[in-house]
Amino acid sequence: MPTHSEIQTLLAEIEQNNPQTAPELEQFRLDYIGSKGKLKALFEVLKTLPPDEKKTFGANVNQVKQAAEQKYQQLKEQLSEVVDNTAAPADLTMPAQTTRLGSRHPISLFLHRAVSIFRSIGFQIADGPEIEDDWHNFTALNTPEDHPSRDMQDTFYIQTNPAVLLRTHTSPVQARYMKKNQPPIRIIVPGRVYRNETISARSHCQFHQIEGLYVAENVSLADLKQTILYFARQMFNKDVQIRLRPSFFPFTEPSLEADVTCFICHAKGCPVCKYSGWVEILGAGMVDPNVLENCGIDSQKYTGFAFGMGIERTTMQIYGIKDIRLLYENDARFLRQFAGSL
Ligand code: DAH
Repeated sequence: MPTHSEIQTLLAEIEQNNPQTAPELEQFRLDYIGSKGKLKALFEVLKTLPPDEKKTFGANVNQVKQAAEQKYQQLKEQLSEVVDNTAAPADLTMPAQTTRLGSRHPISLFLHRAVSIFRSIGFQIADGPEIEDDWHNFTALNTPEDHPSRDMQDTFYIQTNPAVLLRTHTSPVQARYMKKNQPPIRIIVPGRVYRNETISARSHCQFHQIEGLYVAENVSLADLKQTILYFARQMFNKDVQIRLRPSFFPFTEPSLEADVTCFICHAKGCPVCKYSGWVEILGAGMVDPNVLENCGIDSQKYTGFAFGMGIERTTMQIYGIKDIRLLYENDARFLRQFAGSL
C-alpha cells in the first residue's frame, strides 16, 4: 500500500509539473487524471483497504485528485489565452461589418398611416379571424345564396356544410363587432383577405383591406362623405377632391365608390390615373338595415355607414409599382426603397 509520504510526493510532483504547451498539458492529464493515470491506480488500492484505513487514505487521495484537476483546468485556460494572444492581431483598418436597418413594408406603411388618420377622428381598431364562416362573411352581410362571390371559383373554401372559408373581405368583422357591441360604434379593421384569383401583375390571391364602420343615431351620407374627404386630404394631399359614384354592394343601401383626384398628377392626367385625373380608393355606403337587424341592432333607431378600402392598388399607385407580385417577393433591394416614406 502507498504510504502517506508517497502520496505527499505525488502531490509535490503534480505541483512542480508545469506543462507549457498543449501536448505537454495532455501528457499531464494522461499521467495523473486519465483512466490509466497515477490517481486511478491509487483509487484501485483504496478499494482493497479495510474500512478504518479507507477513510484517511481516501481523504488524502481525494485531496491530490482535486489539486491535479484544478491545476489542469487552470493551465488549460492559460494556454488557450496564450494561443489567442499569439494569433494574428485584428486588422483595425478593415471596414466594419455593417448591420442594415430593416424598414417597414410599403403595405405596412400605408396601413399604419391610414390607421393613425382614422384613430385621430375617433375610430378604434377591431380585428377578426382570417378563417371565417359563411354566416359572417356572406349571410349576415345580406349576400344572397346565388351571389357570384359565394362561388367556389371566387372564394377559397376550407370546408363545406357548414361552410368555412378564407375571408374574402374585412366586412365580416362588421358583423362580429355589432353582435357584441351596441352603438355608438366607430371602428376600422385593417387586415388580410383572400380570393381565388389567378395571380398576375394586377391581381393576387391575397391582399389587404381597411374596413370602416360607424353606427349611431342620425348617421347620414353626409358624414360618410366628410369622413372620406378628411381621410383623402390627410393621406394624399390637402388639395385632393373626391368624387362619389353610385354602385352596388349587398350590405349597403345606397352604395357608392369613391375616387380621389390623382395624387400624382394633381388631376392633370398621367399613366397612374390612366389620364382620367381620378383614382378609385374605396367602396362604401349606408349600412343596409337588414345587416343591422341580422347583428341585433335596432335599425329604426340607428343608422350607419361602412366602407372598404383595398390597400395594394392604392399603394402601387402612390409608389408607381407596376406589378403586385413585387409586394410579396420580399426582395430587400425592392423593399428598402420605401424606408421612411409616408
Ligand atoms: N367588402 C367590399 C369588397 O371587398 C368593399 C366594401 C364596399 C366594404 C362597401 C364596405 C362597403 O364596408 O360599405 O369589395
